[in-house]
Amino acid sequence: MDKKELRSRGWFGKKGKDGFIYRAWMKNQGFPADEFEGRPVIGICNTFSELTPCNGHFRELAESVKRGVWEAGGFPLEFPVMSLGETLIKPTAMLYRNLASMDVEESIRANPIDGVVLLCGCDKTTPSLVMGACSVDIPTIVVSGGPMLTGRYRGKSIGTSDIWRFSEAYRQGQISQDELTTAEACMCRSQGHCAVMGTASTMACMVESLGLTLPENAAIPAADSRRKVNAHLSGRRIVSMVKEDLRLSQILTREAFENAIKINAAIGGSTNFVIHLLAIAGRIGVDLTLEDFDHLSAEIPLLANLQPSGGYFMEDFYYAGGLPVVIKELLSRLHGGIITANGKTVEENCVAAECFDPEVIGTLEKPVKELTGLVVVKGNLAENGAVLKPSASLKPELLQHRGRALVFEDIDHYKLRLEDPDLDVDENTVMVLKNVGPKGYPGMPEVGNMSLPKKLLEKGVMDMVRISDGRMSGTGFGTVVLHVSPEAAIGGVLALVQDGDMIELDVENRRLHLDVSDEELARRRANWKPLELGYARGYVNLHINHVMQAHEGADMDFLRGGSGDVVTRDSH
Ligand code: FES
Repeated sequence: MDKKELRSRGWFGKKGKDGFIYRAWMKNQGFPADEFEGRPVIGICNTFSELTPCNGHFRELAESVKRGVWEAGGFPLEFPVMSLGETLIKPTAMLYRNLASMDVEESIRANPIDGVVLLCGCDKTTPSLVMGACSVDIPTIVVSGGPMLTGRYRGKSIGTSDIWRFSEAYRQGQISQDELTTAEACMCRSQGHCAVMGTASTMACMVESLGLTLPENAAIPAADSRRKVNAHLSGRRIVSMVKEDLRLSQILTREAFENAIKINAAIGGSTNFVIHLLAIAGRIGVDLTLEDFDHLSAEIPLLANLQPSGGYFMEDFYYAGGLPVVIKELLSRLHGGIITANGKTVEENCVAAECFDPEVIGTLEKPVKELTGLVVVKGNLAENGAVLKPSASLKPELLQHRGRALVFEDIDHYKLRLEDPDLDVDENTVMVLKNVGPKGYPGMPEVGNMSLPKKLLEKGVMDMVRISDGRMSGTGFGTVVLHVSPEAAIGGVLALVQDGDMIELDVENRRLHLDVSDEELARRRANWKPLELGYARGYVNLHINHVMQAHEGADMDFLRGGSGDVVTRDSH
């Protein structure tokens, strides 16, 4: 590519007053004059924040990227964007995913950047950065922060999924607060994101499956020196991508999305994968529907034996060969000939992969589980669909189930009723939670895997059918129907369910049915009053007015698509 064509020349290549201004202030950072003479400018989009502990090592990681960029003849410039930490942000980091994506999009477009490296880690930081970059569509490579080392507590391996087990044990008085406090430090003992196949690991696998990273990016632990090597090599590679003008839209084809869906099924990825992939597809202009997730992941068995669907951790996954092994095993069902960020095809990237631990990564002949993928159920209770992850079910008989509804009108009502010893509930009850959808909460929190009523836990019940318009943590498990669309807050049939109604879940036939007559539903609808959402100003008001439903990826309506890399006005 001719240097004159670099985007950054529109700033640093100018003569006279404008060029003076663009360069002079940059020189206060000590850059010599020849940096501005036509090197590709590589933005390093950094989600470092001490409030996002999963990304707390990103200053260091950015330095590794910079080394690679310098080596390859580029000019690296790091910039911060809004960072979304899953554990601290209230009410839910998902409320801000789209806001962060706007920050990313506008920061890239407004600045003299020819190519960008996205530093992603904690759950929402990956989709928000990729969504924003897609709407600009310049050469882009993703570097994930990597998972934490496996936690160790009293001689046992632990990870984020154990929080649910610890908390149920604590509720039942089986462990003390002191023991819980000890377990905290044991679980998070190194830098990095959640060590199981939760949403962050799912997102790291998603970007590798889409071809947006170097091979092996997904699983290298954050604390492993090879994580820095990956970042360093990604820094080198992005400079070549700029020279080749290899843009996101050339990598993110419909075929790449199909590959990602199949690979996600094989690793038992989080249900959040659905919502984020739909949003990314909407930004890059690929036609993807909820139904695609169902039919593309059907027939794909679970190959990765990782918590919460299996038994091992991301560290084990890396030592067993990581994602390239899964991709190689699935190759006959994938589009192997499509291009990825390193300029090689999917097939070329995995051909040398080798499995070093068949306990951790199975084969098509000997999978970890047959039952896998993400299932989309529909019916009068979810006209636009809802999502369920069968491999996370603790009681597979519940995948075909008919039971009496126990309704929680919202999350506060649920908390109020849960500990009630007189609650009319048994193990066949279907728990229904309303008003935790994209608009209703707002922000669609991860509360769908509701804790079970105490009196049932005490009887040893471990799983029940639960239905909501919310999401579930990627580390969660159970027979949980999520993302019901349309949500209750906009008058979906979910809003009309009452205690005692019969609900039928039939996963085999992809059906979710509320057994109430149309006449009765019409009568209830006539008495239904829309939820008073009550946010008159600010970003939350913007979100409520523009967020789309879960089956559309919960992006904002005006953010779909892209505006390219040309700045809105260029008066200089
Ligand atoms: Fe950040 Fe789990 S909390 S990845």
